[in-house]
Amino acid sequence: MGCMSRASLEKDPREVASMFDGIAERYDLVNDLISLGQDRRWRRLVRDAVAALPGDRILDLAAGTGTSSEPFELDGAVVVPSDISLGMLTVGKRRRPDLSFVAGDATALPFADGSFDAVTISFGLRNVVDTGAALREMLRVVRPGGRVVVCEFSTPTWHPFRVVYQNYLMRALPVVAGAVTRDKGSYEYLAESIRSWPDQHALARLMLDAGWGAVAYRNVSGGIVALHRATRPA
Ligand SMILES: C[S@@+](CC[C@H](N)C(=O)[O-])C[C@H]1O[C@@H](n2cnc3c(N)ncnc32)[C@H](O)[C@@H]1O
Repeated sequence: MGCMSRASLEKDPREVASMFDGIAERYDLVNDLISLGQDRRWRRLVRDAVAALPGDRILDLAAGTGTSSEPFELDGAVVVPSDISLGMLTVGKRRRPDLSFVAGDATALPFADGSFDAVTISFGLRNVVDTGAALREMLRVVRPGGRVVVCEFSTPTWHPFRVVYQNYLMRALPVVAGAVTRDKGSYEYLAESIRSWPDQHALARLMLDAGWGAVAYRNVSGGIVALHRATRPA
């Protein structure tokens, strides 16, 4: 399969939502499988980076079935999982009826200005069609001095590993995930969306351009994943 440009991957937000509707039932199982269980460690690191205090209001955007939202509860925060896919939200609500799931598009959030102490998004920003608009919306709904943590697949830093990883990703991921979900096409799209996503430095630049301050990032698992942190200027 050739490398698609980011523009050629662009779908209408409704198409993205309907693609996730289709894989919702097996989404968490496939995640565990294709990340070889690493996703649990990544979620722990996101929790540490958000560093929620008891009572903090945390918005988990593109939260899917809410698995990425759960760790913040352990710190006593009030977490609001939000997503555009009704299929993902339905699976989440069945699994965790106590969580307050909210349907919404990350580029036009149904929340008031400054209504959260922190906003976070795990493995979702690259699926939002307009990245800049989402980063600006995240800034709007966080209070001045509040923070953002973006957890996203990124570019492995060691070149030989990058080559192996990209081959594993491009070839094995759609095959394995396709066998479990019977939807190889969606995972081909997801693999391409990882490969064409801006690297660590370029994402930091996008965050600065959206108005975030003190932008910093750390690589995890050799750069397979990067955690970007920033604060809303006071
Ligand atoms: C790969 S899943 C990540 C789910 C969850 N955060 C996790 O870590 O398991 C990406 C999610 O992004 C959501 N998404 C895509 N575009 C969106 C948008 N414009 N607004 C809100 N959610 C969106 C999808 O519906 C999907 O649930």
